[in-house]
Amino acid sequence: MRNKRIVSGMRPTGKLHLGHYLGVIQNWVELQKKYESFFFVADWHALTTKYDKTENLKNDVVDVVIDWLSCGIDPEISTIYVQSLVPEIAELNIYLGMVTPQNWVERDPTLKDMAKILRTKEGANSQISYGLMGYPVLMSADIMMFNSSYVPVGIDQVAHIEITRDIARRFNNIYKCDFFNEPEPILNHCSLICGLDGNKMGKSFQNDIKISDSAEVTAKKVMSAITDRSRMRKDDPGHPDECEVAFKYWEIFADKEQVEKVRCECEKGLRGCADCKRQLGALINEKFAPIREKRAYYEAHPEIVHKIIKEGSEKARVEAQKVLKQVRELVNMY
Ligand code: TRP
Repeated sequence: MRNKRIVSGMRPTGKLHLGHYLGVIQNWVELQKKYESFFFVADWHALTTKYDKTENLKNDVVDVVIDWLSCGIDPEISTIYVQSLVPEIAELNIYLGMVTPQNWVERDPTLKDMAKILRTKEGANSQISYGLMGYPVLMSADIMMFNSSYVPVGIDQVAHIEITRDIARRFNNIYKCDFFNEPEPILNHCSLICGLDGNKMGKSFQNDIKISDSAEVTAKKVMSAITDRSRMRKDDPGHPDECEVAFKYWEIFADKEQVEKVRCECEKGLRGCADCKRQLGALINEKFAPIREKRAYYEAHPEIVHKIIKEGSEKARVEAQKVLKQVRELVNMY
């Protein structure tokens, strides 16, 4: 057991929200029991789009790691590191860049999306940078650096894993070896949680609940969640399936029995939306209480977090150096 490797990363977006928890971190917590796991904060990837907004980068890295630790990513069994503290990845990125045809990166769908977003934000003449262009290769280097077998990702990242497989195959062909695995995605099976307004949950939409939000803030945010818009009075019969947010949250956080009870009471007009959301807030707070307790501990002890990052990154480097040594030999570097 645990003889196969997984690698996954997240951009340093600062404090994470419940969407990250349910969609990504929860999966990692399970996977780390089964696989030798490498989890990293992708700070170079942040630079591909935010090279001119780095004021908060260091803090954002730390915040992400604190959220991971609080949610149960265990530094004793998983390797937690920061991408830029493993410079071997940059060297591998060079070798992989050489064997990657330009049109492979040009047709990357997320890259096309990013270019479009950039143009709408910054005008028709805005150019994507050379670094952003190379993002699919850098992501391949992240994965191939540890010759990992699987990569837990969301569906939007699968195209990148395809490129990684193509690059691995091409490298093996060119250097007549069987060195790199062709990694496969493990799709995050997730309860997709929408934001408080019913749209996709996201930091920039201000519709998120953060893992780090206090019980009071969480309760208040939940009170703002959209319910059944057609319901006027609290004793009107409700329509849980048309309740845009609150009932969906019940389905994610409560057990089946509880959900049925809520449905029944709502449909009979026995449960007003305000009361319903008060209970829902309490339920979410109960679930996150132990996580918040751990978070408070790490926030009070930044030196422990720094030590975990430093030691994890050193551990990752040792593994990366082994792979890189062989790559250099295969490529015939001096
Ligand atoms: N591209 C991923 C994202 O935007 C983050 C990422 C970078 C990643 N390198 C990775 C994920 C390697 C998995 C493996 O979410």
